[in-house]
Amino acid sequence: MNWEAIIAPYSQVVEELKVKLKGMRRQFEYEARHSPIEFITGRVKPVQSILEKAEKRQIPLERIEEEIQDIAGVRVVCQFVDDIYTVVEMLRSRKDFTIIEEKDYISDKKASGYRSFHMTIEYPVETIHGNKKVLAEIQIRTLAMNFWATNEHSLNYKYKGRIPVDVKKRLQRAAEAAFKLDEEMSKIKTEVQEAQRIFHRK
Ligand code: GTP
Ligand code: MG
Repeated sequence: MNWEAIIAPYSQVVEELKVKLKGMRRQFEYEARHSPIEFITGRVKPVQSILEKAEKRQIPLERIEEEIQDIAGVRVVCQFVDDIYTVVEMLRSRKDFTIIEEKDYISDKKASGYRSFHMTIEYPVETIHGNKKVLAEIQIRTLAMNFWATNEHSLNYKYKGRIPVDVKKRLQRAAEAAFKLDEEMSKIKTEVQEAQRIFHRK
């Protein structure tokens, strides 16, 4: 398989989405409004991980592009839970891609304690061989959700997906604390935003 050729449109999509989302962020700044977007990251799934996922899910190599939706992945990190839904609404109203699926792991958190809002989109990308529609995954989460997910991901990696029970329990408690932090921050949201505006003016 020519992996470089397969990966190329996905890298293009990740870069384009990052530019567009950063553009949204900048527009809020110009208008001196609180940006619902704190920062954006993106990555193309490494070939090794694509192969492992295909193997695990029994996906034949010629179906990878249809079956694996997160070869292109972009993450939008927000300050407040409300901001996530502002971003979701903005993404829903866009005309430059189609939303295929949405998963709200915030109203319905995973057993692990994971919370995030996921969108699978179909994004039309121009290639040297013409227009091509590729799937991409957008994860939208708060700083607290991101902090938790990053640490849990490291532990999963360390323990090869078999996190010991006591560590799992700790993670669940940490998830609960992250949830409470988001709740408390939402309650003092206007206070925090005023402070940030004052700071911004200086
Ligand atoms: P994947 O095989 O991971 O794609 O699962 P899925 O197709 O059922 O999709 P899902 O929406 O559950 O998960 C997609 C992505 O969300 C993952 O690749 C992770 O980036 C993230 N994710 C989902 N569950 C967890 C979790 O329990 N912990 C962490 N850290 N990340 C998670
Ligand atoms: Mg997935």
